[in-house]
Amino acid sequence: MAHKIYILNGPNLNLLGKRQPEIYGHATLADVQADCKALAGDLNCEISMHQSNHEGEIIDMIHHARVDGAGIIINPAAYSHTSVAILDALNTFDGPVIEVHISNIHKREAFRHHSYVSARADGVIAGCGVDGYTLALRHLARLLNQ
Ligand code: DQA
Repeated sequence: MAHKIYILNGPNLNLLGKRQPEIYGHATLADVQADCKALAGDLNCEISMHQSNHEGEIIDMIHHARVDGAGIIINPAAYSHTSVAILDALNTFDGPVIEVHISNIHKREAFRHHSYVSARADGVIAGCGVDGYTLALRHLARLLNQ
């Protein structure tokens, strides 16, 4: 049976492709979803991708992943730097978690250098642009298929 991977995206990522393209590039979240979907079949995975601008909704999605998710890829966006609640939710999830940032948060403003989610993430990918999502998917698949 295919492993179900939740790909969760936080605030403002619905504007990916339009929002500060000099930082985040021109690809949209729909492009990211298409890339991940195209890859997932070969990796014995299926993806369930979501985006929300609301912290509680992201927590609800993590709770859904508890029920049928094998792994989580999460770009919590600005909530990375503020949300103990998202960290707590991820700590209720048993499978592997990969945190993705499109930009290299360590090269940017000091307030972006700390991520609460990194305390739970099994891996962190930052600064690889939207390729970070497919890189994360490949890594999760390797963990889950071994
Ligand atoms: C981001 C980095 C965060 O600091 C920022 O708030 C985002 C996107 C990234 O993907 O590079 O919204 O998570």
